[in-house]
Amino acid sequence: MGFLAAFTGWACLFAGWMPDAFAQDTKTQALIEKAFPHSNKCKRCHERVFEEWETSPLSKSIHSAAFRASLDAFLKSPGGKDQAVCFRCHAPQVREFPEHVQLFVEQARSGDPSLDGVACSQCHLIKQVDRAKHPPEPKYEIGTKILYGPYKDAVQNLAHQSMESDLFHKSDLCLNCHQSVPSAANLGKANDLLGNWDRSQAVKSGKECQQCHMPEQVGESANGEKKRKVANHTFPGRIGTLRQEAAKLDVQTKVEGDKTTVTVKVQSLVPHNLPATHPAWATVVLNLEVKGKNLKTVFADSRIYGRTYADAKGQKTVFDFEAVKVVDDTVLKPEETRVETFSFPTPKDTKTFDVEAVLNYGSITGPASFLERVEAESSKGSQDPAFQPIEIVRRTENVLVNK
Ligand code: HEC
Ligand code: HEC
Ligand code: HEC
Ligand code: HEC
Ligand code: HEC
Repeated sequence: MGFLAAFTGWACLFAGWMPDAFAQDTKTQALIEKAFPHSNKCKRCHERVFEEWETSPLSKSIHSAAFRASLDAFLKSPGGKDQAVCFRCHAPQVREFPEHVQLFVEQARSGDPSLDGVACSQCHLIKQVDRAKHPPEPKYEIGTKILYGPYKDAVQNLAHQSMESDLFHKSDLCLNCHQSVPSAANLGKANDLLGNWDRSQAVKSGKECQQCHMPEQVGESANGEKKRKVANHTFPGRIGTLRQEAAKLDVQTKVEGDKTTVTVKVQSLVPHNLPATHPAWATVVLNLEVKGKNLKTVFADSRIYGRTYADAKGQKTVFDFEAVKVVDDTVLKPEETRVETFSFPTPKDTKTFDVEAVLNYGSITGPASFLERVEAESSKGSQDPAFQPIEIVRRTENVLVNK
């Protein structure tokens, strides 16, 4: 009898325990999604916007192998005691639910999170952004049925109320996540991702982030509504056609007997730093290749635009949360033109040779152990997108060797 009671007791405990943890997580997620409705809820009526957003990097902000690997490195670091740091921008609903940060960590670690990252509610529930704070801080309005957006005259619907907010036409909305990274606060003033963007020609002429990164188009803002001006939600950046407007290359070659000099002018057309230096390994790379007889490469060199950071021990680090100092800064400043010269022996036994200049977003760098971790975390292994450079612009010139 006693045995049976003990046995059933255990059985109950067991049966109850496993699903309980699961049920608790489900409950927590439901609580979070009551305040920040899941993007699936918007898809029903805002299909075009949803489909555009789904292809954007924003919809994968807690999904990448690089994010998981660097999140883990961060959680093991001294600053990692505050587990919410990364999620304040990568899944900002955590700001309202700091006590449930464990769920965010677990889901990101799983590689297949069902929690949203930077999704619809994460932007459209922002009521204000406080520019006096560094980085600027968003104020979310939750618990009402109001969604903020660009329209004064939004058609009524049964799911939510609409409220016009000027913030949606302003860079401020974006700056709370894109201006600087609080986890790199040790860097002080050097913790600045965009540079003097507010003094650029583009900004002086009245452009906000949205004009370039959410270009205006005409379409339905909600299924079946009449067509009007809408904003593209694919957020073109490294991916998308905006890349063609990032930079120009001008290549001049001077052959002087045995010596040849190539001058490459790299003109950034971007009104902010290129690249933005979070994650800290982000680079833009200029590769120069000279192909002589039979198109064999006879010379190759490169220049790297990015930041090199050192940690408290003076060692180089690719993690901004470890960085205390910038040791080298070659980032292309807003609308800067950089001139690079390369000298090499004039290719032999050929009447002409090719000079090829290519500007790329560089692939991920860092200690071998970290790169192995990224590879192991990715379902694509060494084919993970983080390892692939992305071409921005290319120039090829055929040069005559005048005897
Ligand atoms: C809540 C934080 C947050 C806000 C607000 C935000 N972003 Fe982002 N944004 C991110 C994160 C995180 C990523 C990186 C996603 C990834 O690749 O994992 C990103 C990526 C991007 C990219 C792609 C960058 C690339 O390398 O290709 C663009 C473009 C972009 N955001 C533009 C904007 C614009 C424009 C706004 C304002 C309308 C904005 N963002 C507002 C967090 C935010
Ligand atoms: C202030 C907001 C902010 C914070 C805090 C932040 N990030 Fe980001 N993160 C961004 C933005 C914005 C981008 C997109 C940058 C771009 O493309 O220029 C990004 C991009 C990334 C990327 C590259 C895209 C990807 O998803 O693979 C990684 C990795 C990353 N962050 C990791 C982290 C980690 C780890 C932390 C915490 C230590 C963190 N971030 C904290 C805003 C932030
Ligand atoms: C990074 C912030 C951000 C995210 C994420 C985001 N939006 Fe927007 N959304 C904006 C901004 C900013 C505008 C106004 C742009 C403008 O008018 O220049 C806008 C405009 C809109 C509009 C007005 C009409 C239109 O189509 O442009 C709707 C509707 C909308 N968003 C719905 C959504 C939905 C649904 C999602 C998720 C699938 C989403 N948004 C994700 C920032 C965001
Ligand atoms: C039942 C359908 C329906 C659902 C569900 C729905 N919306 Fe809407 N939404 C609309 C309609 C209709 C409009 C008005 C469109 C217009 O005026 O062109 C609208 C307008 C908007 C606007 C513009 C508001 C303004 O004043 O600028 C935003 C932003 C928006 N919705 C975001 C969302 C988000 C985010 C979700 C998911 C949490 C969502 N909507 C879910 C139907 C819906
Ligand atoms: C005049 C147009 C223009 C404006 C305004 C603008 N950008 Fe960009 N941005 C670009 C171009 C061009 C690129 C480089 C090509 C690309 O990646 O699409 C770029 C690249 C980016 C990238 C990805 C590149 C990287 O190094 O990670 C992010 C993130 C970004 N911009 C954010 C912003 C934010 C935030 C604002 C507002 C403060 C802004 N941009 C304002 C044109 C603009």
